[in-house]
Parts: sequence; C-alpha cells; structure tokens
Amino acid sequence: VSGKIADSNLADKGRRSYEWASSRMDIVEKIRARNESSQPLTGFRLGFCLHITKETSVLAMAAKSLGADIAICSANPLSAQDDIAAFLYNEGLNVYAWRGETEPEYHQCIRNVLAFKPVIVTDDGGDLHSLAHQQNAKGIEGGTEETTSGVKRLAALERTSMLLYPVIAVNNARTKYLFDNRHGTGQSTLDGILRATGILLAGKNLVVCGYGWVGKGVATRARGMGAIVIVTEVDPIKAIEAKMDGFAVMPMLDAAPAGDIFVTCTGQTCVIRKEHFLKMKDAAILANAGHFDVEIDTKNLYGISSCHPVQINPNIERFDVNGRRLFLLSKGRVVNLVAAEGHPPEVMALSFANQLLSILYIAKNHDKMEIKVHSVPEQIDQDVGSYSLDSMGIRIDQMIEEQERYQHSS
Ligand code: ADE
Repeated sequence: VSGKIADSNLADKGRRSYEWASSRMDIVEKIRARNESSQPLTGFRLGFCLHITKETSVLAMAAKSLGADIAICSANPLSAQDDIAAFLYNEGLNVYAWRGETEPEYHQCIRNVLAFKPVIVTDDGGDLHSLAHQQNAKGIEGGTEETTSGVKRLAALERTSMLLYPVIAVNNARTKYLFDNRHGTGQSTLDGILRATGILLAGKNLVVCGYGWVGKGVATRARGMGAIVIVTEVDPIKAIEAKMDGFAVMPMLDAAPAGDIFVTCTGQTCVIRKEHFLKMKDAAILANAGHFDVEIDTKNLYGISSCHPVQINPNIERFDVNGRRLFLLSKGRVVNLVAAEGHPPEVMALSFANQLLSILYIAKNHDKMEIKVHSVPEQIDQDVGSYSLDSMGIRIDQMIEEQERYQHSS
C-alpha cells in the first residue's frame, strides 16, 4: 500500500465517522451484502477522485469488500477530511489526499492515482478523466462521473471525438440529481455558510445565482429559514420557474446592491465579477456552491481590494472594496465541502448506490460498451429508487392490469 495523508493517528476517529455514515446509508450496504459472495470486483483496480468524506468511505469500503483494489485522491484541494483519509489508508487503500493541498500537490495526487493503473475510474468534476485523457487513458476500460460540471467536460470530449473510454454519467440519474443536487446541496450549502459565519438568515436578502437543481435546493431551504430570496438566471425558462416558485428574479447588476448573501450555483465562470463587487453593500457575504472556484471572480476581488485580505476565521476572508467590507467564504471554493462536511449521508446513499451499481455494470459489460457518455441504465435508476423506498419503510401502489394496458394504448 502506498499513499500520502496528513496524520495516520486520525484513523480511529475516521472509523467512527465511517460507521456513523454507514448506519444512514443502508442502500449501499445492501448492495454490498447482495454481491459479497460473488466478489464481482476481484481483479479490478479502481481509481477514485472523490471528495474524501465519511460518505465516500462507505462507497470505498463497499467496493473493497466486493474485491476491488483501490487508489483514491481528493476531488478538491480543500475538501478532504483527514480522519477519513487516515481510516481508508489504515484499511489498505492507496490514499493520496489531505486537506489544504496546493494546486500542484492536488494534480500530483491525481497522477498518483493514475500511476496505480486503474481499470475503472470514478471521478467528481472531471479532473481525473481529463488527466487520464492527457495520458492516453492506457488500460482504462470505463469510468463514471459524479457531477454536472464533470459530465459537461466529458460531453465536450465526446463531441470532439476525443473520448477514449465509455463513461456512465451518474449525475444524470434521476435518483441522483433530484436528491443530491437539490436536497443535498440545498441543505449543506446553508450548513457551510452557517458553520463559517454563524449569521441569522431570517430577514436577509439571499441572492441565488442559477436556478438549476442546486439553485432550486438552496433557494427553497433559504426561504424555509426566513431569508428573502432573489434569483438570477440567464435561461428564460428557469427564470420563469423561479418567478412562479415565488422568488424575485432580476439581473445580477440589480441584485448586487440588494443582497446580504450571494450564493453561486451555476457551473459557469465569472458569475459575480468586478462590476457586481463594486455595487455591493457593506458586509455582503459571498459563497460558491458550484464544483469549481470560478463562479466568483476571486482573482479580481483580490485585485480591487484596497487592503490585503484579512482572515477572520479559517473560512472567512474580508476584503475592502471602495470602503465597503466584502466577506468571501472558503476562498470561493465549494462551500458545503470546505466549511461543512458535504451532503448528508442519506442523499449520498442514493448517489453512491448509483456509483456502485454503475461500477459493477462496467466491470461486467465494458467489452460491449460503446465509447460514449452513457446514461445510468434505467434499471439501475429504478432499483436505487425501490431500495431507497424500502429502506425508508414506504410502500407505494402498483399499476393494475387495466392501467398497464391504458398506459401503452394508442
Ligand atoms: N459531494 C457533496 N457532498 C459529498 C459527500 N458528503 N461525500 C462525497 N462527495 C460529496
């Protein structure tokens, strides 16, 4: 086993967190139990580039107990939980991750995972897929992708005929995005903002940039805590959705002077930029919920601040723009994973059940899979939905024969 972690003494703490998460992720545990006797991942080397959290440890341990050899690195330089990294390393995984990696260290950790010669690669954001492609993806038979930003990059590779192995877009399963992107990010983004700042949300103007699934989740949860929510959008249809969901909708230049808190949820670049910083009111707070730290133009913020940023606590920096204080959370990196612990285990159970079943699918079918971006097979999506209902103790109706006939009639 090889690896690089912050502190192996944290392994025990990591184990307890793993056990806690595992107790809330019984769908993954059930998939593991159902497959354990046949050891379907024996002989498969898996390369993971995921946020190293207690939930990820449940996925990794399940894959290991189905026979896989695993190397894992972090999907963000600031998101690794060091106790979990230590626990996984202690369990015999090759772990290259610690909180506070520099950019070069972050990329080196990904290279270390590729040097392990994985056959299946599981990524969150596309950095592992991208580096694998730069190295001609030798030996890789298939991959999976966890998030919207990563799927977008893979689709671009596919469009230009540069994709080198089949990839399953786990993000696009209904049992993933409807819950993880909306409820997971919705809750954990506010968790991150509150852990970093401890502010009261009730009565605050909270600007949500982007009304995709993440934006919908953040807006709904913020309203539930008493914030007055403003939505900004570039897509007219999403803007109508936001309006009819009861939120104020306006351009960013109008929202800038109104907002107390700004949350970017777009997957786009330069969503909040100089012209907006200059119009913000004193003490405005800026947070990003998107995968990459490009949504708030932090370079520009550093540039126009009249003083060196003041570190208020590990997750708040204060800038001075035109005599007004602006507070940036988590350096503009994904706030739920940097200032809090990412999505709750209950939603990661759905996402990682899709991941595990997709990995098993690739292990079995990679020879027959076309090199393209695949949807999660419908049966897997349906199964994850049924397992999840089961684990919540919820029963639902089934169509009667007459309804089946009606459904399929012309
Ligand atoms: N992405 C968002 N939340 C996460 C979590 N808890 N674990 C792994 N990846 C995540």
